[in-house]
Amino acid sequence: MTDAIHGALDATELAGLCAKFPLGIADFAVNTNPYGPAPGVKEAVQRASLERYPDQTARGLRDHWAEALGLDASEIAFGNGGADLIWAACRAYLGPTRALLTLEPTFSEAGDCANAMGAPHFSLPLFGEGLDFGHRPLPVTLVTETMRRIPSHVSLVYLCSPNNPTGAVWTELEIQALEEAIRPARLLLDRSFETLRMDHNASISNEPMSARALFGIKARPTRIEIRSFTKDFALPGIRIGAAFGARDEIARCQRQLCPWSVSAPATMAAYALTDAETMAHLQVSRARWWVDAKRTFEGLEARGFRLVPSVVPFALVSTELASAARTSLLEHGVHVRDCASFGLPSFIRLAGRPEEDRERLFEALSSVFL
Ligand SMILES: Cc1ncc(COP(=O)(O)O)c(C=O)c1O
Repeated sequence: MTDAIHGALDATELAGLCAKFPLGIADFAVNTNPYGPAPGVKEAVQRASLERYPDQTARGLRDHWAEALGLDASEIAFGNGGADLIWAACRAYLGPTRALLTLEPTFSEAGDCANAMGAPHFSLPLFGEGLDFGHRPLPVTLVTETMRRIPSHVSLVYLCSPNNPTGAVWTELEIQALEEAIRPARLLLDRSFETLRMDHNASISNEPMSARALFGIKARPTRIEIRSFTKDFALPGIRIGAAFGARDEIARCQRQLCPWSVSAPATMAAYALTDAETMAHLQVSRARWWVDAKRTFEGLEARGFRLVPSVVPFALVSTELASAARTSLLEHGVHVRDCASFGLPSFIRLAGRPEEDRERLFEALSSVFL
């Protein structure tokens, strides 16, 4: 088995494991919507032309989203998943004398890109030991002091909010304060889990929401905002994500993307994402997922596990040795995320899953931990 750098099992690994378990794998390691893509998105993908090249820079799609979100097409870039845009932004802003600062523990792609480019990468741990991953104020002064102490010029600061893997979130005001304080460095703000927030969204009624209201994106001058559409829309196989920001910043990122980096099926899917039916599907399915998450977390707590409070439908769970726990649970057909690669060897990360999978999890946990 390969090391679990990201949550998901590779398709080939998964096929091999599923052959062993008649019910397949109960996959708590992936943070994607368990209720699948909206029917309209699946239909749209079927209509993609395989005989023609898609737009080189997803021009039509950018026009479409600009209208749906009230932005200008020059303020949007699409790519082969959110990860592609993180790499594009890093390539645009980093270099041998232009460093990256990441606020940790967090999603690894920005750091991985800096390392691949030979750009200096510095990490600032935001959280203490134990379960102290709480929703603390963003320590803006600590970030700027750290930047001053760093021997190279920091040109990009990566912040993930809501954060993977901790489930912590910062307010827009805190993020704006950070954005101002780090200037002229740019903020690479990864909001891939924003539409899945259980805190403020939970109080919203089931009134249908427009794409503009649901995404709530504004292009800000020194911020590049990343959105993955993998999680909320259950589309990890399609590979579609976007970056939003001011015209010059987005142009700089766009120049780092390969032409045709959004395939024809991904383009068709992305057109359909802003449809009213897709928005409704997201609202209904995420509400079901939130219930699953609540029950998963409560079930774990009832069995004596300690969880880090999270605003999204996944959470960190404290355990003695995460890698051993992952391996043992996998022998029972249950997959969890070992968080060692986040620098958290005594945590696993689990997403909420429907009842059938939860039962398998709780059974496997009692066999492994008793
Ligand atoms: C915080 C965060 N950002 C971005 C991504 C990239 O997602 P994708 O490339 O599938 O759009 C992920 C995937 O796990 C993530 O957790």
